[in-house]
Amino acid sequence: MNIRPVRPDDAAGINAVYNPFILGSPATFETAAIDPETRRRWIEDRMANPRWPAVVAESQDGEIAGFANASAFDPRAAYETSIKVSVFIAPQAQGMGVGARLYSALFDRLAGIDVHRAYAGIVAPNPASVALHQRFGFRHVSTLDEVGRKFGRFYSVMWFEKRF
Ligand SMILES: CC(C)(COP(=O)(O)OP(=O)(O)OC[C@H]1O[C@@H](n2cnc3c(N)ncnc32)[C@H](O)[C@@H]1OP(=O)(O)O)[C@@H](O)C(=O)NCCC(=O)NCCS
Repeated sequence: MNIRPVRPDDAAGINAVYNPFILGSPATFETAAIDPETRRRWIEDRMANPRWPAVVAESQDGEIAGFANASAFDPRAAYETSIKVSVFIAPQAQGMGVGARLYSALFDRLAGIDVHRAYAGIVAPNPASVALHQRFGFRHVSTLDEVGRKFGRFYSVMWFEKRF
């Protein structure tokens, strides 16, 4: 598995990983599949702003198996040193260390950047994601009880914080 920065032509591969989670999993609170053009703009934003990198895991046959990225925590200016991070691995590639390799690459790219806090909102329960975030220095700071509803049921979100 090759870990590398995102490229404009990764839109279809990233959507192929992420859209099934949108449509079938509570792990993301998005509910509508992302179209290729929207994803291309998302990639351009990731490539244009050093605070918001994205990295992908690419198999030997060129398939995207997962990605990790940072985005704005909140668009208001005083929040600019805070970011949100997330990571999604296709089911067949989970549990093999790909998430950890992607986060290593993502946080390498954030080193030396003017970022002060990173946050991850993990929909409960998700022991693999909790383990991954704790390994990268995140600690649990709060849980918002039943803050979201998807597939007709409520889910709580555990917020994890990493200090730089
Ligand atoms: C959560 C996720 C990103 C983890 O990535 P991964 O490549 O599967 O995980 P890794 O193999 O790198 O393992 C990372 C850690 O999680 C642990 N882990 C992996 N699978 C686990 C499981 N099913 N239960 C408990 N812990 C697990 C590993 O032991 C490892 O812990 P360690 O660092 O203490 O050894 C991935 O499983 C995934 O994409 N899941 C679905 C989408 C999702 O939940 N994304 C996160 C949104 S916040």
